[in-house]
Amino acid sequence: MKSNTIADLLSKENTLQDVEIKGWVRTFRANRFIALNDGSTINNIQCVVDFENTDEAILKRITTGAAVHVKGSLTESQGKGQSVEVQVSSIKILGDSDPETFPIQPKKHSFEFLRENAHLRTRTSTFSAVMRLRSSLSFAIHKYFNENGFYYMHTPIITGSDAEGAGEMFRVSNLDAKNPPLDEKGNVNYKEDFFGKETNLTVSGQLEAEAYAMSLGKVYTFGPTFRAENSNTSRHLAEFWMIEPEVAFMDLAGNMDLAEDFMKSVLSYILKHNREDLEFLENRLLDEEKTKPQAERSEMSLIEKVKFVVDNNFKRVSYTEAIDILKNSKPNKKKKFKYIIDQWGADLQSEHERYLVEKHFNCPVILFDYPANIKAFYMRLNEDGKTVRAMDILFPGIGEMVGGSQREERLDVLKEKMKALDIDEEELWWYLDLRKYGTAVHSGFGLGFERLVMFATGMGNIRDVIPFPRTPQNAEF
Ligand code: 4AD
Ligand code: MG
Repeated sequence: MKSNTIADLLSKENTLQDVEIKGWVRTFRANRFIALNDGSTINNIQCVVDFENTDEAILKRITTGAAVHVKGSLTESQGKGQSVEVQVSSIKILGDSDPETFPIQPKKHSFEFLRENAHLRTRTSTFSAVMRLRSSLSFAIHKYFNENGFYYMHTPIITGSDAEGAGEMFRVSNLDAKNPPLDEKGNVNYKEDFFGKETNLTVSGQLEAEAYAMSLGKVYTFGPTFRAENSNTSRHLAEFWMIEPEVAFMDLAGNMDLAEDFMKSVLSYILKHNREDLEFLENRLLDEEKTKPQAERSEMSLIEKVKFVVDNNFKRVSYTEAIDILKNSKPNKKKKFKYIIDQWGADLQSEHERYLVEKHFNCPVILFDYPANIKAFYMRLNEDGKTVRAMDILFPGIGEMVGGSQREERLDVLKEKMKALDIDEEELWWYLDLRKYGTAVHSGFGLGFERLVMFATGMGNIRDVIPFPRTPQNAEF
């Protein structure tokens, strides 16, 4: 007989059938009741052991964390808390788990502790729910693009270019670090390196996605990206996953429409398909919020927040309007901001973004038309000569979720911009070719996948929504 999943058994109407399950013991109580989980659902199934007819030695090995193989019959439950349970006819221990040393005890552990045990933390309800949601969101993303005529392309992980021009890259090299070859000037000679040039892990697949948009029309990439920025915050990872669609003949307004429609679609997917996990995480969040002062608690529950995004239009606000709002805001006037906004052109810090989305608008906000000099080189210059067709999408509780733009399609303007920023034309010869041969308006954006998972799960630290987080001073596992 094939093993059943717990999700399957719990969703069945018909009981009184023979079943076979393999899973891990969450708890074993009164020498009789096993709460068993196999990862297929947030719920455990109760397995009732006939202890009088079970070998004492076996009973002793039914411990939290042990892997077991249970055979029995699915019956209506006599007890409270579950509708069905398994009357065990035989149980086999597949893998023991020493209760003295198994780190995941049946009690509340801190997220810090669980991070140090990231290889075992998905044995907890919270992390299994988060990772199931992460998986579901990934699927919903591919589904959305597939149904909307986008091609999935794989952009390179190793590149020679700095797509964001921010210099926050991890070098890729197989030169001998202790004794690298030097050139005449005494500098490391990367001509002798594996690729014959300096290379790094990609910070974004955008530039290559642009190349494909300019032939396939609508493409997206969804892959790992790497940033060597030393920001030890709850929203930054050194390795994170980014979704980057790129579309030919689409302007900034179309880009905003796409981003909004896309996010609403993937969030409504999980509302429909991941109800139990969301409900579990919603209750977790409510418990966590009870420990906070009233003023800091959120007005909406997790599911309400997700629904709110699905059901309401994002607010579209120009950078210039945002600066006016911030200039006249209370925290600015009372000098409560760390960075006071006194003039047009200031870069927005997360305190300002938070004020806009959490205090002023109280909904997702699309900020657009930023000053050219605080944004990347590839963004389309507006007719005013000082702003670019950039957009950032800010979310309550998260801050920046999406960064995107209409791209500079005019060869001369792009060249001038690169010159001003000291970006080597020869390095990006192929990128310039796209403007030489059949150039056209095109746009795209990048969505930080982990930030989306944070929003959808209500988790407060980005390290808790990716299986094995990479952050400064930490690459365990
Ligand atoms: O705003 P960013 O830097 O934009 C780009 O990389 C563009 N090339 C995207 C494009 O237009 N195709 O990054 C995009 C998003 C951010 O809005 C944020 O959500 C996320 O990526 N992000 C990070 N997420 C986690 N850790 C980090 N260190 C991140 N840096 C950016
Ligand atoms: Mg950005």
